[in-house]
Amino acid sequence: MFNIDSTFTLNNGVKMPALGFGVFQASPEETVTSVKEAIRAGYRLIDTASVYGNEHEVGEAIRQSGVDRNDLFVTTKVWISEYGYDDTLYGFERSMRKLGLEQLDLYLMHWPVPRDWERSVDTWKAMVRLYEEGRIKAIGVSNFEPEHIERLAQISSVLPAVNQVELHPYFNQSDLRAYHKTRGIITQAWSPLGGVNIYESAKNHFTRSVLEDAVLEGIASRHGKSTAQVILRWHLQHGTAVIPKSVKPARIAQNADLFDFQLSDEEMLAIDNLNTGLRGGHVPDEGDRNLFPAVVTD
Ligand code: A2P
Repeated sequence: MFNIDSTFTLNNGVKMPALGFGVFQASPEETVTSVKEAIRAGYRLIDTASVYGNEHEVGEAIRQSGVDRNDLFVTTKVWISEYGYDDTLYGFERSMRKLGLEQLDLYLMHWPVPRDWERSVDTWKAMVRLYEEGRIKAIGVSNFEPEHIERLAQISSVLPAVNQVELHPYFNQSDLRAYHKTRGIITQAWSPLGGVNIYESAKNHFTRSVLEDAVLEGIASRHGKSTAQVILRWHLQHGTAVIPKSVKPARIAQNADLFDFQLSDEEMLAIDNLNTGLRGGHVPDEGDRNLFPAVVTD
């Protein structure tokens, strides 16, 4: 059903690898080694963002990997300090300069900013221009709710190809995934292993990590797999793209070793039933420059 080279076809025909490698929270030093390790292990999609501060290292790892640029799929994201029409055009060139790339595969708006919606709209218009000029193969959004996507649809004939959102067994976003299907948008999970509950532990309402969940442990031992592998397989079988992050070579390899087992319908349902409805990360509607004061610089 899936293999490491499996892709999802976006709404403009572009093929995006189902499995990707995330570098959120990876320091610049860790980024070069872990991205090279991931490419060696067979990952072909690398997901970064201007605000992560490691685009330069992602580009360096790609150059050192020995894999042809055209065989890789690179995603980065425009940060809210770069929103606005001209600022987005500038921010895009800055990201491309740091990455050392001529063309980008996927560019995402990092958060909706409902309180400054005009600038969000201008950002989208600049992304559409870059897309139509051929600088980007596909454009999309991150952390958008259906109402935000519908508002974009009112002003643009180009719909997001992807919405990258918090999604893991404790917050499974079933309504949002169903909405995406009606709009032909691919769902991509950030924090697919629930790592957000570790990063955001200060406001964590979960007493256990998803990775230590007893139901997942039971399913994992039945298949001779780890809980992380079971979770990633659950995403893929739901048609969700994943970008697990790790800086540890053994885990990087493990998270790509998902293609020699399959979850039954009962197992899929048991994992669906772990949903708590509680997110570990920020509420999309609250995104603004007070909540996220980081500023991307040259
Ligand atoms: P590390 O980078 O030290 O391996 P998510 O992608 O859901 O945000 O999860 C990432 C978190 O989960 C990171 O803290 C990462 O730590 C850890 N992690 C990644 N892969 C695995 C794995 N296979 N088993 C256990 N922990 C993992």
